[in-house]
Amino acid sequence: MTVKFPDGFLWGAATAAHQIEGNNVNSNWWVMEHTPDSTVVEPSGDAADSYHRFADDIRLLAKLGLNSYRFSIEWARIEPERGFVSLAEIDHYRRMVDACLDHGVEPIVTLMHFTVPRWFDRDGFWRADDAPELFERYVEAALPVVSSGVRYVCTINEPNIAAMLAGGEDAANLVANAMPNPDLLVADRLYDAHVRARRVLSSAGLKSGWTVATQAFQATGEPGSEEEVLRYGYPREGWYLERAAGDDFVGVQAYTRTLVGPGGPLPVADDVETTLTGWEFYPLAAAEGIRAAWETTGHTPVMVTENGIATDDDERRIAYTRGALEGVLATIAEGIDVIGYLHWSLLDNFEWASGFRPTFGLVSWDPRTFERTAKPSAHWYGSIARANALPDADASGTDTLM
Ligand code: BGC
Repeated sequence: MTVKFPDGFLWGAATAAHQIEGNNVNSNWWVMEHTPDSTVVEPSGDAADSYHRFADDIRLLAKLGLNSYRFSIEWARIEPERGFVSLAEIDHYRRMVDACLDHGVEPIVTLMHFTVPRWFDRDGFWRADDAPELFERYVEAALPVVSSGVRYVCTINEPNIAAMLAGGEDAANLVANAMPNPDLLVADRLYDAHVRARRVLSSAGLKSGWTVATQAFQATGEPGSEEEVLRYGYPREGWYLERAAGDDFVGVQAYTRTLVGPGGPLPVADDVETTLTGWEFYPLAAAEGIRAAWETTGHTPVMVTENGIATDDDERRIAYTRGALEGVLATIAEGIDVIGYLHWSLLDNFEWASGFRPTFGLVSWDPRTFERTAKPSAHWYGSIARANALPDADASGTDTLM
């Protein structure tokens, strides 16, 4: 027995510029990676060299059977100096959109995925009074990238994580049980930037939304734990979902869960399976993120813009993704409008402060030749995308569709 997804469901994979392009030398992250005593374990360097190899990557994604690709464009390349816009870089990203269209792949473009230009950092980062205005100016400049052939634009990737990183001492942990308090000024500025970006995009006929790291906060059930979920979770997730009410869609980016007791979030238990990022293997994160987004926004359509695990055991990637997709199907059956599922990530990539060790990719690459190899999970996932249906796992746990 197989279970069908809705017609037109988007099946894709996601990436972010800084994590795969290589040599993003004008960005704040590049600076941070090369600062003496940096907490980033290794620099991004050439990464997967996708800046030059994007056409191969898009061709491979299409060949696997996926119908959409979420990628980000890099502000630090488009506006390498304050007020100086590179038409060649705009053309570069436009060619990425066109490469998608040539392969029948729907491009889903993110305008900012954590990294900002060096000059923006130097001039006050998101705390500067004019930061939202500068972002708006960048969005206007970048409009030709998305002005035709694109339906969905993600304005800002994980503003909640960005605000927490800004509030923390270093770049050590992106999603964990010990997340810093968000910098509320940065949160406000990001929201202002999002509203401005949406205005620009809407007037160009584009659908837009921001993508939130949903964290499946769960109370342990001890007295006081429910209250603590609200206290701890609201400034880290709820605030951002509330602000997506009325947007064209909201992105859900889900990986794991966080258990919360009366005294705050708990470390991952010793007896549960964990992934290469140290997070609990928890496939239901996607479904819980979808429900939280749908309820909190008062029914904004949801797109799963990221979901996956870092593992060197590709069988576990398949098991996780199957579990996640079963959860997505359950939310659709409940009547939630889920536009698509974009797996994180197409490629093994630069996992920020953790460097290249946590491998999230459906596809690996050779660090010397950059040659791509699709993992079994990529073929498995592609077969589901083609069928637009999830087959039943047989008794041995293997799928019957392949
Ligand atoms: C981010 C990605 C990151 C992934 C896994 C999300 O927080 O958007 O850039 O690689 O999760 O940590």
